[in-house]
Amino acid sequence: ASYDTAGHAHFLIKEISEQPSAVERTLSGRVDERFATAHLGGLNLDAREARAFRRVKILGCGSAYYSGELGAQLIEELARIPAHAEPASEFRYRNPVIEADTLYIAVSQSGETYDTLAAVQEIKRKGGRVLGVVNTVGSAIARECDGGVYLHAGPEISVASTKAFTSTAVAFALIALHFGRVHDLSPADGRRICAGLKALPGQIREILAKEEEIAKLAAQYAQNAGMMFVGRVRGWPVAREGAQKLKEVSYVHAEAYPASELKHGPLALIGPELPTVAVVPDDELVEKNLTTMGEIRARHGRVLMVGHTAPDPKYAEDCILIPKNEPELDPILLGIPLQLLAYHAAVALERDVDKPRNLAKSVTVE
Ligand code: AGP
Repeated sequence: ASYDTAGHAHFLIKEISEQPSAVERTLSGRVDERFATAHLGGLNLDAREARAFRRVKILGCGSAYYSGELGAQLIEELARIPAHAEPASEFRYRNPVIEADTLYIAVSQSGETYDTLAAVQEIKRKGGRVLGVVNTVGSAIARECDGGVYLHAGPEISVASTKAFTSTAVAFALIALHFGRVHDLSPADGRRICAGLKALPGQIREILAKEEEIAKLAAQYAQNAGMMFVGRVRGWPVAREGAQKLKEVSYVHAEAYPASELKHGPLALIGPELPTVAVVPDDELVEKNLTTMGEIRARHGRVLMVGHTAPDPKYAEDCILIPKNEPELDPILLGIPLQLLAYHAAVALERDVDKPRNLAKSVTVE
């Protein structure tokens, strides 16, 4: 098939703009409001099997790994099953211990990433059970897995992943809801998450309507040689993906740190020449995040806050405010302004937006 940008300047902005419908497709037919759960027939796990796992290990590379980190958090929060993400590329080389009571989940947009495929094969060789969260139907990873969830995000052409990242996070929310409801997630909480999931596409549209405002900020921030991204807990994988997106498409150096780790070293970098993007979900850590932002401001670092509620101006020069969903689902929304920020930084710097130097869409070799 051949694809075009359908009137958009680049595939990247086309795919960012397609996220409301991509998320609708990821959710389609899977949210059961009546029983406050998610239907994911492709998992090939009955309720007894789904209850039997003691741990979840999520594997992927690059943005797929970061979306896996969001997934691990969702599974821990909603199902209270210990869950961890690890780069598939590291996992496959370290002779991993494969446990019978661990559920392995491989994440891949293309389904062809060699490191992720090799990790899946290593798990299977050792008798482990592995599911796939994959966009491309019939791809090598999808075929190798014991079951899984297709994203149905549609083809992603731009090298930098955007809609697949968001749809993966949504797929993990469905998995977490499903596992939660076979464990101890209450029907009331299940219904709250169902309603939150259904609200996502409309809220993503609201965020996309802020493109012009974000483009202006991006053109300013792109003038710096580097940027710091910080977040705590729910905001941390979002910060990592935000930094990854910026460096991939704009070549502006970006570093992501947990906000809580700043004072253990990287605070030494902070000054007027290194601005910070602070990812601030409206959760119980808001005050802690404001304190970190205050510490950055005290060192004359410029702060761009991405969150839901405007803080006292002393904490941030700039703010991108987005609608609030449920606290567990807010990270899915917080990633979207960071995609627009990276895209418009790349445009302002006249980069090769859809085909950044040195990168391939899927790394199918070792
Ligand atoms: C995403 O922006 C990157 N280009 C890259 O990190 C990508 O997510 C990674 O290579 C994994 O690809 P996959 O999802 O196709 O397996």
